[in-house]
Amino acid sequence: MVSPTRRSGRVRGRGGGGDGAVAGARRRRTVKARDVELIVADDEESAARQMAELLAESARVGSEIVLTGGSTPGRAYELAAELEPDWNAAGIWWGDERCVPPDDDRSNFGLARKTLLDRLEAQPARVHRIRGEDDPADAAASYDHELRGMTLDLLLLGLGPDGHAASLFPNSPGLDETERLVIPAAAQLDPFVERVTMTLPALRSARRIVFLATGEQKAEAVAGAIAGPPDPAVPGSLIRAESGQTLAILDQQAASRLRD
Ligand code: 6PG
Repeated sequence: MVSPTRRSGRVRGRGGGGDGAVAGARRRRTVKARDVELIVADDEESAARQMAELLAESARVGSEIVLTGGSTPGRAYELAAELEPDWNAAGIWWGDERCVPPDDDRSNFGLARKTLLDRLEAQPARVHRIRGEDDPADAAASYDHELRGMTLDLLLLGLGPDGHAASLFPNSPGLDETERLVIPAAAQLDPFVERVTMTLPALRSARRIVFLATGEQKAEAVAGAIAGPPDPAVPGSLIRAESGQTLAILDQQAASRLRD
């Protein structure tokens, strides 16, 4: 399997600027991370705003942007649409999809349509949807084909409470994939529908990877994925940009187990 050989270390958490994103406690205490820059926002709303600013700026300059699913990014998508309603220059992708039709409540595309696309004045010129309604192996093969040769500028990831990211679940066989960029995968967490997911080589190729995680229920997963050693039991720990930046935007609660 592909195993990252990056050094471990400690960094000072990096503040997000003049919006009150850095709490006093954080200024005084070291937070631990391994090859990840940190933004620890005061709360969920402020973490969403940090993410939205990155999304809006990336859309403006015509980046290839990989969206994530789950529920956490919805607010960031809404704010990004407010900050930049013209996404015409951008291309959008998904890191993973649940194998359901696009109008199903569980669809990751559906989340982005409701919270982002439906609110824009100008749609992204390139919308690369994973076809969740198709046979998962076919949908994965065709997305793999679409992705070949692309440079992904900004890749957004959520983090499951079990440490999974995209649909790469703890100790799953997909973590060993070295050739394919997109594969079908079995869900190990609700919703229990089959998934199609980018693999580690695809995720790691992005120029900038951004984890977004909020809430106390994510604190342990954050500690493992952001500060722990590379470990297939915590797939997020295996995801670092090979030759770019890896950033985590957290709120105080999600960051609570990163501190000394
Ligand atoms: C999915 C995801 C997945 C998600 C995490 C966090 O399709 O389920 O892309 O990796 O990002 O499970 O999900 P929440 O934001 O709902 O906690």
